[in-house]
Amino acid sequence: MATFYADACKLIGVNPAESEKKLAAEAAVEYVNDGMVIGLGTGSTAAYAVVKIGERVKEGLHITATSSSLATEQLARGLNIPLLEFSGISRLDLAIDGADEIDPQLRAVKGGGGALFREKILAAASDRMICIADPSKLVERLGKAKLPVEVLPFAAAFVEKSLGDLCTRVAVRQSGSGSRFVTDQGNCIFDMHFDEPYDPLELATALKTIPGVIEHGLFLSEIDMLIVAHGDKVAKINRQGML
Ligand code: 5RP
Repeated sequence: MATFYADACKLIGVNPAESEKKLAAEAAVEYVNDGMVIGLGTGSTAAYAVVKIGERVKEGLHITATSSSLATEQLARGLNIPLLEFSGISRLDLAIDGADEIDPQLRAVKGGGGALFREKILAAASDRMICIADPSKLVERLGKAKLPVEVLPFAAAFVEKSLGDLCTRVAVRQSGSGSRFVTDQGNCIFDMHFDEPYDPLELATALKTIPGVIEHGLFLSEIDMLIVAHGDKVAKINRQGML
């Protein structure tokens, strides 16, 4: 069935990863109900969820949402999703977001889009977080993807050196125009690269001790459910296992 699906995708010019992201995102949006306050994630997978929420709002769904980035905010605004500033919100019902990689214990690396700080705040404020992904994001152990760290520009050189002691290579994130990438909070991002898998808890603890590190992209306890699509099939996994 999956081969048939992949062949059909090729025939009609659809990228299977894109349709898998969309399928996972739409399955997550089924958990959005009237009256909820929703945290909107950032990235290409999360964007499919925002678009689906926009469709449901157009059909009469009554929710309010708050965004993890200016980019998502712009998308949501264009879809007429009612938005609130997060600064006035103390809890969310549900956050839906993507990931750069995720392991069987639902521990993830996020921040490929540079929005990890606000994403982590929304995840922490949310009663439930659903992570949506295509199969390329699934790993047995974290360490394949770069690990983004948001850093106060004032401490850039000091933090770069400190991060270098914890990984194989550190790279300052660049924007498309070749200048330093600037987060929505005005900070910079350092991407940590690893040759081997690491102990996520140990690393997260070490990163938190470095002055100037604002937040890191390890989400070790925030994700309650992973929804992953493979071909035309959708799997839902929570911390206890497959649903
Ligand atoms: C942004 C993120 C994204 O969720 C993550 O990078 C995955 O993005 P995509 O869905 O485009 O692969 O953490 O900061």
